[in-house]
Amino acid sequence: MRSIAWILNTTDGLAAATAQLFDPSQRNKLRCAPIYQVFDIRTDIRPTVAEIDLGALRRNADVLRSAVGSAKTGLLAVLKADAYGHGAVACARALEKKVWGFAVSLVEEGVELRRAGIEQPIVVLGCYYGLSHRDVVAYRLTPVVADARDLGRFARAADELSAPRVGIHLKVDTGMSRLGVRSDRLDGFVHELVRHSGLYLSGLCTHLYDADGEDAAPTDEQLRRLSGFVDQLHAHGLKPGIVHVANTAGAVRFAEARFDLVRAGIGLFGVAPAHTELSTLWPVMTLRTKIIALRELPSGETVSYGGRTRTTQPSLCATLPVGYADGYTRRMSDSAYVLCGGQRCKVLAPITMDMTMVDVTLVPHVKVGDDVVLLGAQPGPEGQHDRITLDELATWAGTIPWEVCTVVSKRVPRIYTGDGRT
Ligand SMILES: Cc1ncc(COP(=O)(O)O)c(C=O)c1O
Repeated sequence: MRSIAWILNTTDGLAAATAQLFDPSQRNKLRCAPIYQVFDIRTDIRPTVAEIDLGALRRNADVLRSAVGSAKTGLLAVLKADAYGHGAVACARALEKKVWGFAVSLVEEGVELRRAGIEQPIVVLGCYYGLSHRDVVAYRLTPVVADARDLGRFARAADELSAPRVGIHLKVDTGMSRLGVRSDRLDGFVHELVRHSGLYLSGLCTHLYDADGEDAAPTDEQLRRLSGFVDQLHAHGLKPGIVHVANTAGAVRFAEARFDLVRAGIGLFGVAPAHTELSTLWPVMTLRTKIIALRELPSGETVSYGGRTRTTQPSLCATLPVGYADGYTRRMSDSAYVLCGGQRCKVLAPITMDMTMVDVTLVPHVKVGDDVVLLGAQPGPEGQHDRITLDELATWAGTIPWEVCTVVSKRVPRIYTGDGRT
């Protein structure tokens, strides 16, 4: 997105131009100063960006496909929450040829992908449809259904739109206790389903709640319960259709959880869940900015809000134009580091809404405009690379990597690198 800015060279000029702009009879006389510049409004004003490496994303899809191993099992790439903060449309386009389809949480996320021209199956995991049943049908989304009352609504929408039979994926609850039909309600659900000739069961799914836990027993138990559901469906003369159960951890660790599709999210974005030993994944997001101010502080000077933090020695303090409004969460004020000049520099004091102050005392020749990496790699003075990972940021923030990338806010521009075809 390139923007053209007409830069007026005097304040008087600005006032006159503004007056002319609001007076239609004067508009054709509008004279701007004869300077104009072309700049990227997203990055040339504030240098804080999230770089998304689409080549890495595609390589991660390959890594996961080979970890899953079986040609029978496809990848259902989980791109909910704007692809965990990476940008759903760009990620879907990059992955198009490598995956069976895409999973989103919300109907509107699915509509966004369809409108962007994505033609593969789009499975809506969220199970919440409000008044959107016609949109689901019109945009050829695959609804995951856990509430029998939605069946009649989808059947009516299909009828009204004269659509072909709508395939629904039945969600069953095997222990997550979040969404899904429980086994004592399955018969009622099936009775309702078979009443509607415009619908058919095209898939069956559940969600694993501890696939990255040390103990395999919870997952084994969930798989045992799932097979009970399959038996129940068979008893009604129904086939489950496409079965999908595993998230990234489940897909990699539990061969018996792979079935027809695996729903991989975090692995695509370069994070190997605990106990998976997927050391070959590539980080996808880099968060970077530049120093916008530097000050030499004496020992004992206050930094940031509250006066709680004081320098303990003469220090060089750099101000970064990134804060908790960007998703650089305040919770890690006491523990986070950034990379500057290839060195780890500590966040000095409470992260503010738009700015963060870091200690760059030990960075030689540091100056305003120097690059700073908040997440990702930076070469050091001797050519060595240091890297801040999503896992590390999550530890500093007392959360999980899923949350760290997902909360990088909208106002941080996503810049795509790698042509998505590497
Ligand atoms: C229903 C469902 N399936 C799959 C996933 C993907 O999980 P992961 O990111 O661990 O691969 C999620 C993530 O939250 C989910 O909610």
